[in-house]
Amino acid sequence: MRSGNAPRIRKAVFPVAGLGTRFLPATKTVPKEMLPIVDRPLIQYAVDEAIAAGCDTLVFVTNRYKHAVADYFDKAYELEHRLENDGKHELLQRVRDVLPEHVRAVFVTQPEARGLGHAVLCAKPVIGDEPFAVLLPDDLIWNRNGPGALAQMADLAQHQGSSVIAVEPVPHEHTHRYGIVATAPFDGRHGLIGAIVEKPDPSVAPSNLAVVGRYVLEPRIFELLEHTQPGKGGEIQLTDAIAALLPERTVNAYRFAGTRFDCGTHIGLVEATIRFALDHEALSEPARQAMLKALAELGVQDPV
Ligand code: UTP
Repeated sequence: MRSGNAPRIRKAVFPVAGLGTRFLPATKTVPKEMLPIVDRPLIQYAVDEAIAAGCDTLVFVTNRYKHAVADYFDKAYELEHRLENDGKHELLQRVRDVLPEHVRAVFVTQPEARGLGHAVLCAKPVIGDEPFAVLLPDDLIWNRNGPGALAQMADLAQHQGSSVIAVEPVPHEHTHRYGIVATAPFDGRHGLIGAIVEKPDPSVAPSNLAVVGRYVLEPRIFELLEHTQPGKGGEIQLTDAIAALLPERTVNAYRFAGTRFDCGTHIGLVEATIRFALDHEALSEPARQAMLKALAELGVQDPV
């Protein structure tokens, strides 16, 4: 699909300045994006996905309390020295692999949590005039045997010279939790977006296709964000700026190959932990045994 009609994305924005209230009290001191799935924080999964899609500049939009995210990507001299001296080479490599050498991390501050759209706008000076990706790390997307969701989207964006927004069908009664799109009929995995609405009530939702946390956007979005007024919840919504982009530019909805875990919710985080533990080389069998034991203790005879 890589015919190269448009430039390939190189820069990815990670808006991580939200308050993470759903995980309080844990998120009083630990940013939501640093919650682990097995042995890696959520942010690492999103960063790996962006790098696999070809990004070499990662822009983290943080707030003044989230030093943990910057510390995580910084070099840990003492720790690395200690692991090296102790001959723990495999562990040392794991620590160093957090950010490959060719990738640069840039941190910008969102002074106040004024919404996702505002957080993306804060990245404008680093992005400049080129298409870029936005990844919300609490949407963890797992495509076990194929390319990551962002790589799939970047291919389409490059081929069509369009913006691309990841979507997946959700139960109709859940439309009020998501941005929802109306599209032309899909051609394979993608369809042209005709309308987008933030968190519509199921009675007025144009479809059940929900926007999830992966976007490839044209830089024009920044000018539109600059003029976007606070919307749902009093926040500057990325959805509203995308709605303003629709009459001017091609914006595709893309149904990615892979499974999304909504790790912004308790059950999503638990589900992702179970799934990754069951898939983990060393943990798979002990995790299965532990789950069977827990279910048996609860009197569940025949887990499906
Ligand atoms: P959420 O809607 O999940 O909000 O934000 P939140 O604050 O992170 O979590 P809850 O709902 O209080 O538990 C979606 C994404 O947008 C970022 C968040 O960090 C998350 O990645 N965001 C949101 C910002 O960076 N800044 C904001 O002002 C709002």
